[in-house]
Amino acid sequence: MASVLGKNILFLWFCFLYVVSNAQVNEMLIDVRKPFAEIQPTMYGLFFEDINYGADGGLYAELIKNRSFEFPQHLMAWKTFGKVALKNDGPFERNPHYVRLSNPGHAHKHTGIENEGYFGIGIKKDEDYRFSVWARLPEGEAHSKIRIELVNPRSVTETHALASSEIIIDAKEWKKYTVVLKPVVNEEKSILRIFLTSPVPVDLEHVSLFPVKTWKERENGLRNDLAQALADIHPGVFRFPGGCIVEGTDLETRYDWKKTIGPVENRPLNENRWHYTFPHRFYPDYYQSLGLGFYEFFLLSEDIGAAPLPVLSCGLACQFQNDKKEAHVDVAHLGPYIQDALDLIAFANGDVNSEWGKKRAEMGHPAPFNLKFIAIGNEQWGPEYPEHLEPFVKAIRKVYPNIQIIGSSGPNSEGDQFDYLWPEMKRLKVDLVDEHFYRPETWFLSQGTRYDNYDRKGPKVFAGEYACHERGKKWNHFHASLLEAAFMTGLERNADIVHMATYAPLFAHVEGWQWRPDMIWFDNINSVKTASYYVQQLYSHNRGSHVLSLTMGQKPVAGTEGQNGLFASAAWDAKAREIIVKVVNTSDNAQSLSLNFKGLKKGEKLNGLTATSLHSDGPDKDNSIEFPSLIAPQKKAIRIEGAIYNAVLEAQTFTVYKFAVK
Ligand code: AHR
Repeated sequence: MASVLGKNILFLWFCFLYVVSNAQVNEMLIDVRKPFAEIQPTMYGLFFEDINYGADGGLYAELIKNRSFEFPQHLMAWKTFGKVALKNDGPFERNPHYVRLSNPGHAHKHTGIENEGYFGIGIKKDEDYRFSVWARLPEGEAHSKIRIELVNPRSVTETHALASSEIIIDAKEWKKYTVVLKPVVNEEKSILRIFLTSPVPVDLEHVSLFPVKTWKERENGLRNDLAQALADIHPGVFRFPGGCIVEGTDLETRYDWKKTIGPVENRPLNENRWHYTFPHRFYPDYYQSLGLGFYEFFLLSEDIGAAPLPVLSCGLACQFQNDKKEAHVDVAHLGPYIQDALDLIAFANGDVNSEWGKKRAEMGHPAPFNLKFIAIGNEQWGPEYPEHLEPFVKAIRKVYPNIQIIGSSGPNSEGDQFDYLWPEMKRLKVDLVDEHFYRPETWFLSQGTRYDNYDRKGPKVFAGEYACHERGKKWNHFHASLLEAAFMTGLERNADIVHMATYAPLFAHVEGWQWRPDMIWFDNINSVKTASYYVQQLYSHNRGSHVLSLTMGQKPVAGTEGQNGLFASAAWDAKAREIIVKVVNTSDNAQSLSLNFKGLKKGEKLNGLTATSLHSDGPDKDNSIEFPSLIAPQKKAIRIEGAIYNAVLEAQTFTVYKFAVK
């Protein structure tokens, strides 16, 4: 048996050698003499939107859903038992609802409330969870008591409670009470239960539960594993808060950044359009608490070393959902929207003594956030978009001439709207134009040269949302990620005009997604990095500072005719004095590669460093919560003789080669 297996392996190895030795050698020429365009530090970044429970229920570490009882169905996500009444004259003006728990009337009966969390409440053994609640007593009472439990209602052990603690309420004024719970087991789907354990009634408002170990241990913090995954990319830019949620289904539900700052208890609830955008993926309990607001977005950008890039409404509600003029703000009445943009820049960068700088300082960040970019409008189109954008551009230029403004080329990567909007963006002299492309594999394979002939005199490009959506396979799988890697060689080669690129969407909860594919998936406890994540990471970690010319038969390697499905780009890292070559073999065959470096100075010598490859043993596979490490970059040391490096490119593989110039 063993010898049959051995023979088969030997046979396959010979076939492989035969294929490689008989195929043509793909000779790529890299000119190291003239690093030309600079590759911007912002080149590879992240785009965040609260879609797929990306914020509430995801990155934002709050575990209680509808914590302020402000969902339109005020007790959604809650169960009540005993004597519970809903009230609406609470201490927080923009969130006035709260609950009153009263004596159920018999010692053996109970009053209380239960919260289901987001698809349950994920808790980990021996970790600390900070429970907090705003509470008060009725007039004339001295104290009351509540017991807080994290419960597994399906538990077969003697008790349902996995952690529990008590709080004595001792004031008739509203006050915040806090206690730390430490579960004794891991549980992905616990619930929070609060019992009134005194005959004296209590009022409860803003019920909250956070892991103590959030990202950077901030109280109103972010889920550690998810924020860490973002930091691990080393992103150059962070675009937020969307996407379509910027625009709103109507203007009332647009993303209004001013509502997202200040104490979280008083940030008003907003509808999340993704709750109903796709009726076949309907999530009636999907709202935005805005607990993850603009201050937190700026802070996260700073923490992960990315330039913040906020996107604001231009006064046009989502055009997919509104075709009537009345749904939008009339240009003559855009004043408050424009003021929002100016105030945002002031909030981010203003002096602590200025109105908006003071607000930032009061939230804990006296130093400016160093905002350099602002985008106005998401996927807007038609003449109404430039009409709306123009007054923003004028006002921002006047007050903040150094802020770079980003306009949109609409929702499509080509076509009438795209062709109309690009010249309009040039006319308005925006700094960058945001392009979006969720396109099939044929598109990604054919767009390797997309930017080679773009006008170098106009605005720069921000590939603000993109992902390969293969026909009939709109889910994460390796082949789509491979084509993204292939396409990205064209972004890099054209780094003189492409200044930013952000894959989309970023996050998805396995039980709550509306849109696939996505870059990072998670459940209540675990998260998983997809092959697309690793593509982004490989580009970002191997960015380089300048583009180098790389050609095959005097042409860029962009998957064009006669190029055997190969895509490639090269960069120079001036600081590390390294040459980085990225090669994507999209074909089904292993191929020979020869990298020829020309233009080394006298006395300079190349040292082979590493080849890092991303490959899958099946094009339809990807990492999952169950198997998180099926596909991950594999690094090996390489050697080079003189100025020529020869290698075999495995079929369907993305490889990053690094060489040091000594
Ligand atoms: O990324 C999902 C959506 O795709 C974004 O909200 C929108 O900008 C685009 O249409």
